[in-house]
Amino acid sequence: MQKLRVCDARKQETVGQQACLQGWIRTRRDSKGGFSFLEVNDGSCLANIQIIADNSLSNYETEIKKLSAGCSVSLEGEIKESGGKGQTTEVLATSITVHGWADPEEFPLQKKRHSFEKLREWAHLRPRTNAFGAVARVRNSICRSIHDFFQEESFLYVHTPIITASDCEGAGEMFRVTTLDLETIAEKACQLDYSFDFFDRPSFLTVSGQLEAEIYATALGKVYTFGPTFRAENSNTSRHLAEFWMIEPEMAFYELPDNMDVAERFLKRIVTDALDRCSEDMEFFNLRVDDTILATLQSVLDNEFVRLPYTEAVEILEKSGVAFDFPVRWGIDLQSEHERFLTEQHFHAPVIVYDFPRSIKPFYMYVNDDGKTVRAMDVLAPNVGEIIGGSQREDRLDVLTSRMAEQDLNAEEYWWYIDLRRFGTVPHSGFGLGLERLVQFVTGMKNIRDVIPFPRTPGSADF
Ligand code: 4AD
Ligand code: MG
Repeated sequence: MQKLRVCDARKQETVGQQACLQGWIRTRRDSKGGFSFLEVNDGSCLANIQIIADNSLSNYETEIKKLSAGCSVSLEGEIKESGGKGQTTEVLATSITVHGWADPEEFPLQKKRHSFEKLREWAHLRPRTNAFGAVARVRNSICRSIHDFFQEESFLYVHTPIITASDCEGAGEMFRVTTLDLETIAEKACQLDYSFDFFDRPSFLTVSGQLEAEIYATALGKVYTFGPTFRAENSNTSRHLAEFWMIEPEMAFYELPDNMDVAERFLKRIVTDALDRCSEDMEFFNLRVDDTILATLQSVLDNEFVRLPYTEAVEILEKSGVAFDFPVRWGIDLQSEHERFLTEQHFHAPVIVYDFPRSIKPFYMYVNDDGKTVRAMDVLAPNVGEIIGGSQREDRLDVLTSRMAEQDLNAEEYWWYIDLRRFGTVPHSGFGLGLERLVQFVTGMKNIRDVIPFPRTPGSADF
């Protein structure tokens, strides 16, 4: 018999078909007429399908009447038109096999609704809830759109290393990778000698694939990376993870405005696809998580992103009259509260802030003629704040090396990066988009720990 997923069995055109469905019980309701209604979910969509189990089934009294939330079943039957509200079809079961029981006294999801905080304790069970199922499907749709977008625009997908010796962002927030026996070294209080270490030098988990992506962009034109990145910043906030996924396009012969165009088109494409492919899940987020999310996303699609020089952003913040926790003056890095004020209160739209002070940005960003600012850009999105960070890259050899010296970087360690400016240098640009912040932006989920299956945060790396 043909196996159908619940999302397909719910379609009108399957009426009359014999099918096999497999999934987990959400609820059971016994009717006085000698039959039971089972709600079954298989994760293929938000909705359940209703199963009618008649007392003529051989295991009706022994098993079916004992089914409860979390039990797993295979069932066969005929798909019928349903008169019930919110469903077009239901299944009249001819057989139901129970694979696994879930003791209602012990199964944690027996209770209808738990807080997201509580559900974080059950990372192994939370994907069985409506909210986490919906997040997983939207996250999947976003990943598909990322590849679709770049492939359609003729970008090459390149893989950059996860283990590296260089700190791209220069922020010193890297996790060390070593095979040295730290316990013995500590016990014997001997000196660290990296010549005994696996890579012969201090090595780390990457914070960004950008520098390596630049190598491929300056050979192949347009490339993108999409992989895990790691930051050992000790920030316990609703938008920071120690392990997150980043998408990094890098384009030769692109200047900052071209970079902004790609970022805007890219974000709009992701939103369009999510609304289109995950409409049921998106309705759910609007109903249960953030009742403005659909309107916000529609307005993101309907309007152009604001493009705002940093200097003007600072003026707006200074004139706002708002008492920010971090006082604003020219030269500071924008904090989350400033970013959110600009995008949510002032412009009610995504904002691309650009031309930041050189003193707060990494060595690789192109220095403007004013000598004070660099061609950096941050895209700020409602509900999230900074979602993208990028720049035009410094392609002039002399400026790059003096910037490295300014930031106390050892040019010898970056000899290969400098070579790209010695041999056929070109203007080029790129950006990094944090996948989890993007999923937050699309779903309206408040905490970044709830949009990645297994969040890694300070003090927490269970499973
Ligand atoms: O602004 P960032 O640090 O930029 C870079 O790493 C550049 N090398 C990217 C490039 O130009 N290719 O990080 C880029 C984005 C941020 O805007 C944010 O969305 C995300 O990565 N991000 C984080 N997401 C979750 N947890 C963290 N700790 C994050 N740090 C950055
Ligand atoms: Mg940034």
